[in-house]
Amino acid sequence: MNDEVAPYLPEVEKGLHLIPTQATEHAGQVDHLYFALVGASAIILLMVVGLIAFFGFRYRAGNKTANRSNLPSTRTENRVEIAVLAAMLTVFMGFFAWATTLYLDGYRGPEPAMTIDVVGKQWMWKIQHPDGTREINALHVPVDEVIQLRVTSQDVIHSFFVPAFRIKRDVVPGTEKTAWFRATEPGEYRLFCAEYCGSFHSRMLGKVVVMDRGDYQAWLTRQGSGRTLATAGKQLFEAHGCSGCHMGKSSVRAPSLDGIYGRSVALQSGEVILADEAYIRDSILQPDKHVAAGYEPIMPSFAGQLTEEEILRIVAYIKSLQPGDWVKASVNGNEGESQ
Ligand code: CUA
Repeated sequence: MNDEVAPYLPEVEKGLHLIPTQATEHAGQVDHLYFALVGASAIILLMVVGLIAFFGFRYRAGNKTANRSNLPSTRTENRVEIAVLAAMLTVFMGFFAWATTLYLDGYRGPEPAMTIDVVGKQWMWKIQHPDGTREINALHVPVDEVIQLRVTSQDVIHSFFVPAFRIKRDVVPGTEKTAWFRATEPGEYRLFCAEYCGSFHSRMLGKVVVMDRGDYQAWLTRQGSGRTLATAGKQLFEAHGCSGCHMGKSSVRAPSLDGIYGRSVALQSGEVILADEAYIRDSILQPDKHVAAGYEPIMPSFAGQLTEEEILRIVAYIKSLQPGDWVKASVNGNEGESQ
């Protein structure tokens, strides 16, 4: 894999745009909100400036014709003020509700057709497709499909930003966040890092290539990774010696992992925890955090020994294990299956 810093600027979205290209439905909705806010602010600005100018002129010092005898009482004044403030509050709370709905909508998407892993690293974006295909600073996706991105960072904070989709996610090391989009127009769109992340932050650029379904399949076939995430994970699982303890062939007793994903696990502390991706990830990096009931906390941490991509692969492998997988593979069978 080509891991060197690639100064990469795609020839996309050329020319001067007042607003970025709209390549998702969400982008159009965000722009409606934006223009409505600008419009409402402009109207209010004109009203305020207009009234200041009008009264400033009408009641200027030299104007003898202005009637200054009929000043409103404090009570009337209060009523006017309250009415104006209430109207403003209502309008802007409306904007708040509108914006919040849109913001949450950007996080909780519909059921995704596929999940793609994105790892930020000084100074590139590493992408991994569900079939194991990898690419750098480019993300190929099919049009009209809900794509979920799982973003994380290997070193410092980056920010995954695709203006044409109006999505931006800060990418924080040690955490995993999701973003989703459904591109409506085939084409190429810019991908930026929107968080200053070191000397070559400005070169941390890429593109998103939206393709017709058939073209995407053809593209995947041309890449021909031939290995799924899980198969790659299996090799790592064995190479790092995880199988030594977890497959029940050694004298060290460690919990069996087949069928672990989605199961409830009883912990030493008496708690019961759901074995989701975060749990598996924690168990690799901070094994002392959740010790399974009936086992000694002897597992070493693999923090610093595995890259984010390797962790993703190992997690994919562990997720793929079905109950009984290892009984077939192991000579001694599995102890510790009942937790
Ligand atoms: Cu990565 Cu800026």
